[in-house]
Amino acid sequence: SAAEKGGYASFMLKEIAEQPKAVADTLLGRIGVDGALTLDELRIPAAVLKAVDKVVIVACGTAFHAGLIAKYAIEHWTRIPCEVELASEFRYRDPILGGRSLVIAVSQSGETMDTLMALRHAREQGATVLAICNTNGATIPRESDAVLYTHAGPEVAVASTKAFLTQLVACYLVALYLGQVRGTKWGDEIRAVIRDLAAISGEVGRVLETMEPVRELARSLSGKKTVLFLGRHVGYPVALEGALKLKELAYMHAEGFAAGELKHGPIALIEDDLPVVVVVPSPRGRSVLHDKIVSNIQEIRARGARTIVIAEEGDEAVVPYADHLVRIPATPTLLQPLVATVPLQVFACELATARGNEVDQPRNLAKSVTVE
Ligand code: G6P
Repeated sequence: SAAEKGGYASFMLKEIAEQPKAVADTLLGRIGVDGALTLDELRIPAAVLKAVDKVVIVACGTAFHAGLIAKYAIEHWTRIPCEVELASEFRYRDPILGGRSLVIAVSQSGETMDTLMALRHAREQGATVLAICNTNGATIPRESDAVLYTHAGPEVAVASTKAFLTQLVACYLVALYLGQVRGTKWGDEIRAVIRDLAAISGEVGRVLETMEPVRELARSLSGKKTVLFLGRHVGYPVALEGALKLKELAYMHAEGFAAGELKHGPIALIEDDLPVVVVVPSPRGRSVLHDKIVSNIQEIRARGARTIVIAEEGDEAVVPYADHLVRIPATPTLLQPLVATVPLQVFACELATARGNEVDQPRNLAKSVTVE
């Protein structure tokens, strides 16, 4: 009913709008007065966390994209090797696991059968399994050794939005906590990241306030057949997520690529007026990557692409090559997906609506897939 949607036209719009609060709620009560993390709720003994020699993330769909981003954070902050695998592929390839493996199962619903089977397999191999889940008491957290709830609140729209952002925050928390417990030498850096995380919900709110041009652009592209998405580093999974949202909601052909792979194939797809969304890394954080992506934007534009550039405020290098420029607030590199994903959600939702699609209940999809 309209009341349940809180005045929004769809649950999806409502859930997109709820993201600043959802992100803040994921952090609530998990940061101590001293600025360190208090995740005793995990109830995994410190000795086990200290002994972890490998992290494996298993998930499906949007949660898988959160896992792909988490890998960058976990490896950078903890130096523990991290793999990310589609849950549906995991157990069938006889993965190498043992008592020192930490398997993280990321699932909004906590009922996805592929993810459940992956975690059962991991536990049989002696791994410790941590669930990152949005649904209290669901099967996946119940069958895991530990759980970190995302506290995003119920997500009704089939296409995941606020659950995704909060999965990211939960993954960052796990990564930082691993660093904290293992006593890496950068305790101050952990505290600085935690401060940045605490500020990010406000930044997500700021992005939401500037979305009208994105909606306008989405409506103008509703007759297109294909949209491509490019990104690098953590922007690559963001590109994958932007493409997934468009497939799910607008039933359009959409693909995400790592921008460095363009020259190895996808650049052949570029043709006149093809919309290409590019997620640009911060010029401060990874300046080499930033410059490379600016070259990519030039290359595709020279071949006729219509460039839709998502770039930090103050990034002037992209301006000459952007047919459409979407500004996002400056954030630390690893946290950028929390703000960069939001315009892509709005874009897909608006484009789908312009095409007359039912955004809360896309055809052929289910909110939670309880069959393998
Ligand atoms: C379904 C939904 C997706 C979701 C995926 C994983 O396919 O349509 O939106 O990302 O399942 O769901 P989970 O509940 O495990 O996060």
